[in-house]
Amino acid sequence: MTKLNELYRCRVCKNIVEVVMESDGILVCHDQPMELLEARQLPEGGVKHIPIIERDGNKVTVKIGEVTHPMEEEHYIELIELFADNKVYKKILKPGDEPVATFEIEESITDLKAREYCTVHGLWPSS
Ligand SMILES: [Fe+2]
Repeated sequence: MTKLNELYRCRVCKNIVEVVMESDGILVCHDQPMELLEARQLPEGGVKHIPIIERDGNKVTVKIGEVTHPMEEEHYIELIELFADNKVYKKILKPGDEPVATFEIEESITDLKAREYCTVHGLWPSS
């Protein structure tokens, strides 16, 4: 059974998919059930992984970590998402990019949450 906005990863090819419609089905890749990415809640590592949301009117910036996260070939932030009321904004990053995403949202939106996916340390929500 899948739930809205869950992320699943293939254990073989590292393909990642996001659920946009809930179902009682099972996601499969390379003939295996895909792994649900659970949000990390460990205190260690948070300083480099927990997204920080800054807002200036309709401009929202999501920065990854109080200490900037590395963006190396084998270890980088691959995805930053902003959840704004019922909308989802997303930025896909590559090694060498800055681990920051800026989105324009409607002024009336008040409920903001973010999450990021690190290729080594997994999924981290904003606090
Ligand atoms: Fe990391």
